[in-house]
Order: sequence, then C-alpha cells, then structure tokens
Amino acid sequence: MSSEVVKNSVLCMGPGTHGVPLKLFETNRRRLVERLKSKNIGEGSIVLLQGGNDVPVHDTDTTYLFRQESYFMWAFGITDPGCYGAIEVDSGNAHIFIPKFPADYGIWMGRILERQEWGQKYAIENVHYVEDIKKVMSELKPNMILTLKGMNTDSGLCSKEANFKGIETFNVNNTLLFNEIADLRVFKTDLEIEVLKYVIEVSSAAHRKVMRCVEAGKSEYQCESEFLHYCYQIGGCRHVSYTCICGTGPNASILHYGHAGAPNDRKIKEGDMCLFDMGANYFGYASDITCSYPVNGKFSEDQKMIYNAVLRANLAVLSSAKPGVSWADLHVLAITTLLEDLKKGGILVGDVQEMLKAGVGAIFQPHGLGHLMGLDVHDVGGYLPNNPPRPKHVPGVDKLRTARILEERMVLTIEPGCYFIDHLLDQALKDSNLSKYFVAEAVSKFRNFGGVRIEDDVLITKDGAINLTKVPRTVEEIERWMAGHDDEKY
Ligand code: GLY
Ligand code: MN
Ligand code: MN
Repeated sequence: MSSEVVKNSVLCMGPGTHGVPLKLFETNRRRLVERLKSKNIGEGSIVLLQGGNDVPVHDTDTTYLFRQESYFMWAFGITDPGCYGAIEVDSGNAHIFIPKFPADYGIWMGRILERQEWGQKYAIENVHYVEDIKKVMSELKPNMILTLKGMNTDSGLCSKEANFKGIETFNVNNTLLFNEIADLRVFKTDLEIEVLKYVIEVSSAAHRKVMRCVEAGKSEYQCESEFLHYCYQIGGCRHVSYTCICGTGPNASILHYGHAGAPNDRKIKEGDMCLFDMGANYFGYASDITCSYPVNGKFSEDQKMIYNAVLRANLAVLSSAKPGVSWADLHVLAITTLLEDLKKGGILVGDVQEMLKAGVGAIFQPHGLGHLMGLDVHDVGGYLPNNPPRPKHVPGVDKLRTARILEERMVLTIEPGCYFIDHLLDQALKDSNLSKYFVAEAVSKFRNFGGVRIEDDVLITKDGAINLTKVPRTVEEIERWMAGHDDEKY
C-alpha cells in the first residue's frame, strides 16, 4: 500500500500507464443489481463476496505476489487481500470490509490506512472492519444473503463462497447469484473494453519487441524476459495472465510449454520456428496473444505452407465472427480451412469433410478455436445453463471452452494452430480410419517442425469482430518487421 492516499478516481500504475476508472466497478455493481431486480431475485437481499487472501509459499513466511479473485475484482476493484464486499440489492449501496491490522503491521507494510482512507482509495462510502461483519450485516437486516457458489467450467474448481463466523444465523442462498454474475462478466462495458485494449496494445508491442530480439544461440527464457520487461517497464503490467510459453523448434508443439518442469530453457537454433504465447495483465484484465515466426526472420517453403494454412483459418474466422454466429461452427470452419490447406500442401489426401468427421483435424489442432477473455484469460460464462452445451458433433470440438452464440461486447481469442505432436501422429498412423488420409513421408518430414499458432484477441461488435491485436501477421509483414522495417505501421 502506498503511504500517500489520494482521493482516487482510477487504479493506475502512474504516469504513462492506463487509469482504470473506479467507475468501472461501480458500473458492474449497478449492472448486477439491475440484473437481479429484472429477474425478481433478491428483493431485500445483500450480495456478499469474499476477496482473495494472501497465499503463503508452502510453510514459509513469504507469499506469492497477490492477485485479487476475479469476481471480487469485477465488483469492487480492490487490489488488497483479506477483504469482503457487500451490495444491498434494493438500494445498490456498497460496503467493504477491511482487515484490522496490528500496530506493527505499519513497520513492515507501511502506514495503516484509516477506514475513510480506504473509502477514498476505492471510492466506496461504507467501510467497516472484517471483524464487525456479523454486526454490520445484522444491522442491515437482509432477508437473504446471496453468496457466490459455482464451478469454473475450464478448471473444474469452485468459486470461494463468502463465509464468516456467524453467517449461519442468516438466511443464505448460494444458488441464485453465480449464473447471473458469470453471465454479466461475459459482456464487457465500454470502460472494460478500454482496459482490455490497453493491455492488448502493451502485449502486442512487447511481442513486436521480442520478434526483433530473437536469434539463434539465445535461450528461450531470454525472449520471455524481454516480454516481461517490456510489459512491466513500459506498460506497468506487474503480472502476466499465464506462464509465458516460449516454444522453439520441437517445443512449439507442446501446447502449454514453459511450465516449471520445462521452463523455456532450450537454446534456440538456426532454422527453428518460434511459437511465443504471452499476454500481460493489467489490474486483473488479461491479454492472450500468440505469434509464430522463424527465428531467422525468413520463412522456408515448409514453414510458409504451415503458417499460411493457420493464417487462412484465423482470417476465415475473423471475417465470419459476428453476433448470431455459433462459436462451435467457427471452430469447424477453422479446422476445415486448415485441412484443405494441409491437403494442398501434400500432407493429407482424401475428402476434407470425411477427414473432419474421422478426427484428422484434432490430430493437428488438439485444442479449441479460442475462448472468452476478460478478468480471467479463460474467462467465465462459457457453459452457463441457458447456453448451448459442450458440443460433440465433430471430434475435437468438445475441447471448446464455450459453444455460445456470439453477441456484441464479447471479447474472445481466435487461435487456430497446427502442430506436429509425435504421439498423436503415431496414434493416427496406427489407426486405419485415420492413416488413410496421411501422406506418411510428408508427415515424417515435419516430425521436428514443432507447430504454429496464431492467436488474436477480438471484440465482437454489431458489425463483426474487431481485431485488437497489433502485430505483423502475414509472411511478408513478419519478414519486413523482423528485418527492421515498418515501425510506423503498428
Ligand atoms: N495461453 C493459453 C491459451 O492460449 O489459451
Ligand atoms: Mn494463448
Ligand atoms: Mn488463448
């Protein structure tokens, strides 16, 4: 906590960085109250959310760098751990509950803020101590407390339901809130779109920087380091949205490479393709961008063929994405486009529709087309009760993190890919239903190729998808950028 408290109207990292208006969170609270009222949910009730707590590193007295829980962030914009927030549904009045620190907290963490200073910091009128939560709630006399309980359909994990000593003396409902708030998070307000544009722009610029730094002989992690440094130094982004994936050569076929057991530590070789999937995070708002390019800045014919197949899939989706279109249909469009080009490129033979049904597409792209994005990189609301269920009509389409019909104000990634993953190829070549479509010699030539993914972050508007990602994408654009041209273009 900074020692100087100013009456804030924004969350900001300082000069040159984006000011996230506190109004953004007030707007979200208002949207929530309006939604609940419109569905006749919660008259006389109070919504109660519990923020995240500091997480110790195992049994030590250090903690992981804190990141606020996303539903709590969405509603209150509070970046400190250990808080609760409440919203009176009838009036929309907001309350926050803050930790009461012992006097020596000030020695280690800085001056302890008074309650009204917290109020100024986060533009909330009613500030109480967490230890008084039962007393305050009793005074507010809600006929019901609405808490958040539900499963994240990507992780399978449950949200942390608010709890405090004595909550059992209230009438608590934990079934009504989750679907409403998760659905609201899917649709971004103008103020949220501004934050997303900022973090996507910072991440795009960082990717462009990395493209010009990469060279044979460096290690992958040095590219990760350039990205992290740019996002923090220039954009004030203290977090990334997920662990950086800096796969080169064969590592580019490992979808979530870069984890602790494979920490981007390979030495980059001449002739490699790079697949760098990295996205900064600003006050919780995510970006998620993948760039794929040759380390030496010049595509070989094979690299060009695979890259252009993925690019054509990406662009086909980009130009078709608009309100009313099914995301599952766009997944199939991307896979079909990819298969057509792999056939043209001599890797596959046979009828593309038959290949699709047999599951050839899922060998080359064993992941979904893309996902909702917002405060979480794989954002919530993918499979809510009133939305299309997880589809199964084509092999691989079940990997999608949502099958929703597109609507205005959704932000999603479009991220088709083509990978040469040994164990999937081996499996396919052993299976007579699949092997008949593969040209075995051509496949063997690509065994150590790795892969290509082209991942853009897009906003759905009434007129179609707007690509918010600003990086060189065509072969020509990439080659020119890596050769030092076109600075004025991005
Ligand atoms: N970076 C993870 C993903 O692309 O979904
Ligand atoms: Mn990604
Ligand atoms: Mn993604």
